[in-house]
Amino acid sequence: MTKIAYYLLALFFAGTSITQSFANDAVVELCFECHTTDNNNPDPIIPKLIGQDKAYMLKEMNSFKTGKRADTTMIDIALSLTDDKLLVEIIDFFSSQPVMVGTPSNDPLVKIGKELYFDRHCDFCHGKHGKLGTTFISGAPIIGGQNSDYLFKALLELREGKRPTDPFGLMQRSLLQLSSDQIEAITRYLATQ
Ligand code: HEC
Ligand code: HEC
Repeated sequence: MTKIAYYLLALFFAGTSITQSFANDAVVELCFECHTTDNNNPDPIIPKLIGQDKAYMLKEMNSFKTGKRADTTMIDIALSLTDDKLLVEIIDFFSSQPVMVGTPSNDPLVKIGKELYFDRHCDFCHGKHGKLGTTFISGAPIIGGQNSDYLFKALLELREGKRPTDPFGLMQRSLLQLSSDQIEAITRYLATQ
């Protein structure tokens, strides 16, 4: 039986914490320290993974391995996790958690961001609340309820072509006409969803 299965059993019977249950596997323990399952990551630059699309996450792990995504922390982590079966189990686990949720806010940028989100047809691929649902294409990630600092970093990288993960350049094309201020407004909106 794998460690994830042990964890699930332990949680079922004893309600233990994830980090305790994975204490013997340094890499797995680390995943849950940075990407927690309580909808609250220790640092807003770390993306939430709970409820995230499974295929998307596996694709991104590969993008770190091949250097298509430049984050050196995640590159080291992805390269050190050589057990593909274990990786699929971790990703399955994150993806099966209740989906990430945002925090309501009175920030005036939220309204501007919402208008831009629909005006630029981001909903075509990411869904009405950034939570997918019936979308025009498959393969897009959940972005509603994600940390705005992380979203901002990701969008600037995508706009500037520093994250060549999307083979058709669909994301870059949607972003080229947007200023950094407009992108920031969109991320504030998404963080409330
Ligand atoms: C030290 C903190 C840290 C640890 C440990 C860590 N991550 Fe990450 N992870 C990050 C950060 C920061 C990013 C954002 C990278 C970027 O900006 O490109 C990220 C991004 C990701 C993404 C892409 C998410 C998205 O929305 O595109 C996945 C998937 C992921 N991590 C999975 C894992 C898994 C699986 C593990 C354990 C094997 C792990 N991470 C361990 C910090 C961490
Ligand atoms: C034609 C479909 C499509 C449209 C339109 C689109 N996206 Fe995306 N988006 C994607 C795909 C596919 C990805 C995954 C790219 C990758 O593989 O890294 C993505 C990735 C992202 C990410 C990175 C998420 C993460 O966890 O790292 C953000 C943020 C995002 N899109 C926001 C937007 C916004 C804002 C708009 C509107 C301005 C938009 N997208 C329009 C398909 C689309």
